[in-house]
Amino acid sequence: MVSKTKTSAPGKIIISGEHAVVYGYPALLASLDRRLTCIFDAQTKGQEINSSVNDLTYAWKALKICERSLRHKFPNVKITIDSNLPVGSGMGSSAALAVAFAAGFNRLARNDFDLEAINNLAYRIEKVRHGKPSGGDNTISAYGGFLWYRKESENLRTFSPIKIKRKLPRLYILDSGKPIESTGEMVAGVKKDTATFMAMEKVTRGILRYLTGEENVNFGELMTENERLLERLDVVSPQTRELIKKIEKLGGHAKISGAGGAKKGSGILLVLHKDSQVIKRLAKSVNCAIIPVKLGGEGVEVENG
Ligand code: PMV
Repeated sequence: MVSKTKTSAPGKIIISGEHAVVYGYPALLASLDRRLTCIFDAQTKGQEINSSVNDLTYAWKALKICERSLRHKFPNVKITIDSNLPVGSGMGSSAALAVAFAAGFNRLARNDFDLEAINNLAYRIEKVRHGKPSGGDNTISAYGGFLWYRKESENLRTFSPIKIKRKLPRLYILDSGKPIESTGEMVAGVKKDTATFMAMEKVTRGILRYLTGEENVNFGELMTENERLLERLDVVSPQTRELIKKIEKLGGHAKISGAGGAKKGSGILLVLHKDSQVIKRLAKSVNCAIIPVKLGGEGVEVENG
């Protein structure tokens, strides 16, 4: 029986298709080289969870869901969470926690590493965060890399890894500020808008063909198109729209990535510009952090402690 294990899961960005993916339209997701790590120790007295970064209420709920789903009680377990993913900004910190918990409790209860089971359990945990998640965030965190993802129905969530056939343009992540609203509130605020979702699918398919080398489309312009569609869904605040306009005036492209935020901050922005100095100067002038990331990090990892 395993009594100690260490798991880690990556954060993510949504390249295209957020919100529409909740309604069954496709999305393109990429994992990051930034991760959340959990150390599980079942040789302690009682249950304990420690984290300097993540929301402990969510972590306790995750523990209870793991116990229920695995039909296994863990009366003695100490979990230590460490993460370099900012919370609530669209980088998938909660999904990474759900995946790292699912992987850890699977290992403790069954001593296995069944990716599908881990992903399904993480999806159940994600449902706590907001009522109708697409399941995209937990799936990219579990499998890593680049994914084409689609939720056909509650019980049929399909995805496929994408082989990137060209050198990706340099993307920057700019923090537009932590949204006041939760992901759940943002998702609930977006009503079914078939015309916008269909336009978004067209953009997502265009980016897919670009990534796989099938077509030489203008990636930046598709990002801008995607941003305009997200603005139409009212998930981008006036202050973030202004920042994005500034980037466009400087010859760049930008979009929110994730649930967004309509009141003040809208979480992270994906930014494309051929001159890194221009983006660095802008970030400094508007007092926004640039978060360095690499796309396509490894999915969930488990090691015995
Ligand atoms: O901001 P995040 O990381 O919670 O991303 C949510 C992405 C949505 O498409 C808005 C919701 C979902 O469940 O896919």
